[in-house]
Amino acid sequence: MFDFALLSMLLAELRPATILEIGSGNGASALWLADLAAMNALVCRVLSVDVNSVPITHPAADFVTGDARDLTSVLPEGALARGPRLVLEDAHVGVREVMEYVHDRLAEGDYLVLEDSVGKVEHLEGFTTAHPDATPWTLVTPTISGSPGTDVDHPGDSRGVGAARWVRRRA
Ligand SMILES: C[S@@+](CC[C@H](N)C(=O)[O-])C[C@H]1O[C@@H](n2cnc3c(N)ncnc32)[C@H](O)[C@@H]1O
Repeated sequence: MFDFALLSMLLAELRPATILEIGSGNGASALWLADLAAMNALVCRVLSVDVNSVPITHPAADFVTGDARDLTSVLPEGALARGPRLVLEDAHVGVREVMEYVHDRLAEGDYLVLEDSVGKVEHLEGFTTAHPDATPWTLVTPTISGSPGTDVDHPGDSRGVGAARWVRRRA
């Protein structure tokens, strides 16, 4: 429920040209994102990856079958070439690999959203520990009352705030 409201706000604010979803499910979320992008008059492609094939065709969404742990092989070169970019990690498998894949492919202001993130804190902490020099990410705690762009520090937060953790690329 919160995600519907927050992602709607984020799309309107970020105006992504590329949305990459990891974990398509039955495809409904990718189609919802494509519809939301159209409602906001965005020129945006949705790319959605799942280990199971999703037999849906849509003018603004591509479904790719493959393993989230090997996105370099699964996704075409340049899959994230067009920004602004929004990446949604919703497979709950290969979280760290997904973070490593997007690390150099996102630019300042782009977002990675870790869905259902209470169990993913260790991946986030492992990632930030492994890349201390880059200090590349800012954790954004989603709030319904404020802008999705409200930054907070990331001290290895383990409070389990919210359903999703949003990580924004810094310069
Ligand atoms: C929580 S569901 C996604 C729900 C969908 N995003 C939605 O909101 O309706 C998780 C999905 O991750 C997929 N999945 C599980 N392991 C995966 C892997 N290693 N690589 C890619 N997708 C995987 C599952 O097949 C499942 O469809």
